[in-house]
Amino acid sequence: MQKIIAVVSGKGGVGKTFISINLAIAMHQFGEKVTIVDADVSASNMGLHLGYYTFPVKLQDVIEGNLDIKKAIYVHPSGLNLIPSAIDLNNCQCSLSKLRDALGPLEDTVIIDAPPGLSNDTLDVIAAADYIIAITNPELPSITNVLKVIKTAQDMKKTTLGVVINRMSYDNYEIKQSEIEIMTETHILATIPESKGVKKSIFLKNPVIVMDPLHPSSLAFKHLAARLMGKKYIPPKYVAVKRFLRNSGINVI
Ligand SMILES: Nc1ncnc2c1ncn2[C@@H]1O[C@H](COP(=O)(O)OP(=O)(O)OP(=O)(O)O)[C@@H](O)[C@H]1O
Ligand SMILES: [Mg+2]
Repeated sequence: MQKIIAVVSGKGGVGKTFISINLAIAMHQFGEKVTIVDADVSASNMGLHLGYYTFPVKLQDVIEGNLDIKKAIYVHPSGLNLIPSAIDLNNCQCSLSKLRDALGPLEDTVIIDAPPGLSNDTLDVIAAADYIIAITNPELPSITNVLKVIKTAQDMKKTTLGVVINRMSYDNYEIKQSEIEIMTETHILATIPESKGVKKSIFLKNPVIVMDPLHPSSLAFKHLAARLMGKKYIPPKYVAVKRFLRNSGINVI
């Protein structure tokens, strides 16, 4: 059965695209048929996260040209199915009001990387989805803005699966997980650490879960993916040692 999940945030730059990509790859690795859709039509950058710059057929072509969405599916080397958006200025004005219809032929899980905030495009993305996952950083502006998006999605009768807190430093200068849970009135699905490994993976255009499968962020994505699929992920034993060996050039699973 088709299940459409929108990855949303109140503030831009909190990690929606990074999380959409790595979550989708984790679900794919656990055997889920999953397609990720870049619906940030006015500031698309999913392709850039993955090292792609242009695509012959994009989401805009599907919506405006009434094309079959399956013509816009590209398969990343990780096995991830991806529907990109155009990055050029000419395609920024595409309306997403028909997004739900366009997604109709896709099977199983669809993860939509949404634009930030509560623009018309975001509202169309939420309208097209069954569920939302709300992304925030552990700081006040990000949390207060995401609360507005969660409330709006609730008013639109969408189910909030939970909040993912990205860029946690676990220091004294950020809002704690328990406080974010109270402030957003929503349970926390996962926390992703602030890390140089993530920066490096984005720089190298190689998702962290592929580049460094035992990285703490990668393990967090595996836990999150399993949780969303109703499964439990048990990380490998001696994970820190195995990571050390991998990073020293010794290949361990
Ligand atoms: N856990 C992390 N650790 C370190 N850097 C991170 C982390 N998460 C995100 N970043 C940095 O934040 C940047 C923005 O991430 P991303 O593009 O996923 O945000 P976004 O919410 O999709 O932004 P937009 O609202 O503009 O679409 C990344 O390019 C990366 O440099
Ligand atoms: Mg983004």
